Amino acid sequence: MADIAIKKKRPKNLDLPTIRLPLPGILSILHRISGAVLFLLLPVLLWLFQQSLASPETYAVAKALTGNILVKLILLGLIWLYMHHFCAGIRYLLLDLHKGIDLESARLSSKIVFGVSIALTVIVGAKVLW
Ligand code: HEM
Repeated sequence: MADIAIKKKRPKNLDLPTIRLPLPGILSILHRISGAVLFLLLPVLLWLFQQSLASPETYAVAKALTGNILVKLILLGLIWLYMHHFCAGIRYLLLDLHKGIDLESARLSSKIVFGVSIALTVIVGAKVLW
């Protein structure tokens, strides 16, 4: 009975835009979103890869497709999602080993993940897409 009374008193805020997440929280949500998007788009990427290898004709189709600026931007976004997922994944593995679990280190490592993943995206994007 007392349990129910306590639960009823808990503050509720379902107005999502008013919730200000700290950086590690944003990183965590992006890690989940990036994992899901990478998983869902894996068949498309594998199809594109297969097209590039099957024959000279399908290679030309894949090349024309990836030459489109919109496709390039989508691929750049995917590269960033992958880099974010990869770097955040390494951070989570370190957290699982109890490395950097205090608040200050967790905030610092979140900043490092964003910085490194964006830098890697620029480098890989410039090399592969342009
Ligand atoms: C295309 C490749 C990948 C896909 C599709 C993928 C997908 C996913 C998905 C769907 C999750 C669950 C996310 C959640 O519900 O919170 C996940 C978690 C995770 N991924 Fe990946 N992943 C990929 C690559 C990687 C790589 C390269 C790493 C290396 C660091 C990694 C490290 C992790 C870790 C550590 C977790 C667990 C995070 C936690 O403790 O909540 N993933 N991944």
